[in-house]
Amino acid sequence: MEFFEWDEGFSTKIQRFDDDHKKLLTLFNNVYHRVFECTSLEEERELTQHTLVELLDYVKYHFSAEEELMIQLDYPQYLEHKKEHGSYIAEVNNFLDQHKQGTAALSFPTFMFLKEWITKHILVRDKEYGQFFNDKGIR
Ligand SMILES: [Fe+2]
Ligand SMILES: [Fe+2]
Repeated sequence: MEFFEWDEGFSTKIQRFDDDHKKLLTLFNNVYHRVFECTSLEEERELTQHTLVELLDYVKYHFSAEEELMIQLDYPQYLEHKKEHGSYIAEVNNFLDQHKQGTAALSFPTFMFLKEWITKHILVRDKEYGQFFNDKGIR
């Protein structure tokens, strides 16, 4: 079983964003698996940094894509949604910094926190826009 698995309960009813979310899950799984493959702290630091940067870049890309569509279609909850995105990017950046400066390997509780946060965001915030976008003809 994967660390982070997709199921239909995650569906926002918007195909492109469901695809993005699946890719995000894959990136989380990559971080998780690579950490266990490492044989030295040095290797762990390098690989984890690389994988976290990849995750952060994708998160930024995905959040912007959602926000652009929201602006385009005048989504009423745009500001609250964007605010959550902003605080998540700050958390991931923070985590990346901590990992870079720390002498220990990836902090598992913090990593779990990032995973739980994005899960909740998809299940609550992202699912809120499905019906609204569907009504505007976006599937
Ligand atoms: Fe979102
Ligand atoms: Fe999303």
